[in-house]
Amino acid sequence: MSQNPPLLDNTAKATTISQRKLKHVEICLNYPVEYESLTTGFETFQLPYKALPETDLNAIDMRCEFLGKRLQAPILIGAMTGGAELAGKINRHLASAAHQLGIGLMLGSQRVMLAHPQHKTSFLVRDVAPDILLIGNLGVAQLNKGFGEKEVKLAIESIGADALALHTNPLQEAMQFEGDGDFSALIPKISQLSQDVPYPLLLKEVGHGLSGEVAWALRESGLAAFDVAGAGGTSWAKVEAFARYGELRFKELCEWGIPTAKALADIHQLLPEMPLIASGGIRSGVDAAKALMMGASVIAMARPLLKAAIESSKAVIEYLESFIWELRVAMHCMGAKDLAALKKLNFKTHP
Ligand code: FNR
Repeated sequence: MSQNPPLLDNTAKATTISQRKLKHVEICLNYPVEYESLTTGFETFQLPYKALPETDLNAIDMRCEFLGKRLQAPILIGAMTGGAELAGKINRHLASAAHQLGIGLMLGSQRVMLAHPQHKTSFLVRDVAPDILLIGNLGVAQLNKGFGEKEVKLAIESIGADALALHTNPLQEAMQFEGDGDFSALIPKISQLSQDVPYPLLLKEVGHGLSGEVAWALRESGLAAFDVAGAGGTSWAKVEAFARYGELRFKELCEWGIPTAKALADIHQLLPEMPLIASGGIRSGVDAAKALMMGASVIAMARPLLKAAIESSKAVIEYLESFIWELRVAMHCMGAKDLAALKKLNFKTHP
């Protein structure tokens, strides 16, 4: 990989959690970490174009409610980072952009701040984003390492979050140097936690996808939402391969996952009432329109925002405004004046 810049620390024996987080950021920026052979599957669907839509482009209403908070558009900034100084800057830029756009923000894993409280500041964003939907984050495998109600409540309350996403990532952890391998007996622990913690809890993958089977197994768990985080965008197995070896190894594992459109459709069919976040390779307003038509309540994206997030909140806003404009045009040219109308459309709709 000589065309790529050197990693911060090219040895497998990394590092503190916060160094690892920085390394993830660097790899996500500079290495080919997106799937090559798997796509989200959204490209196989065509939006139903309507030449006489009877809508006004400037009056398209994208407002919605998610987890009890109003959003100006059905968009969350995906979970990314926290811990180091750079991560704190990234989070503040993202939070400020979310505030100005009226959308939600999922923070990166807070394990680092629970282990080392000095890192809490990198997750503190309420001063720049007092009212946004703010979702904390912890790895579900930590429930097998002593984390429970106390740690989850602390993660939420100490940063003023509204909810917390538990990420489940067995493939990422397996690829990671000294990653967590014990994902046993987690379903009852997730259910118990949802009962014990007085805040909404979500379950998300990290880009290899939640299946219908997993969602169904958790149908009575009390979780408030699922983020399907399917395949087709960032492959976290790839990120960990680069982090561990400095090159891509175990290529078939790196190209493995449930395409986002399939994960979404399967879970929505089994659990039509469950709020769903569509993420993993959502790269355009058109992707977003398709995901919303297929049952997503909101969409999220992570890696495409990383470069802008390092730069400034203005750069994040510019990126997202263009994305939102594309979603607006898609809705207008299908004759969907709002999200309720969009969700009534299907891919076979003809004028
Ligand atoms: C992530 N992601 C992630 N997810 C999570 O639950 N906790 C985390 O700490 C992180 N960290 C993280 C760092 C960076 C730099 C990126 C880009 C992503 C995963 C992310 O939330 C998302 O599920 C996947 O990246 C797939 O979405 P995209 O990138 O294809 O839009």
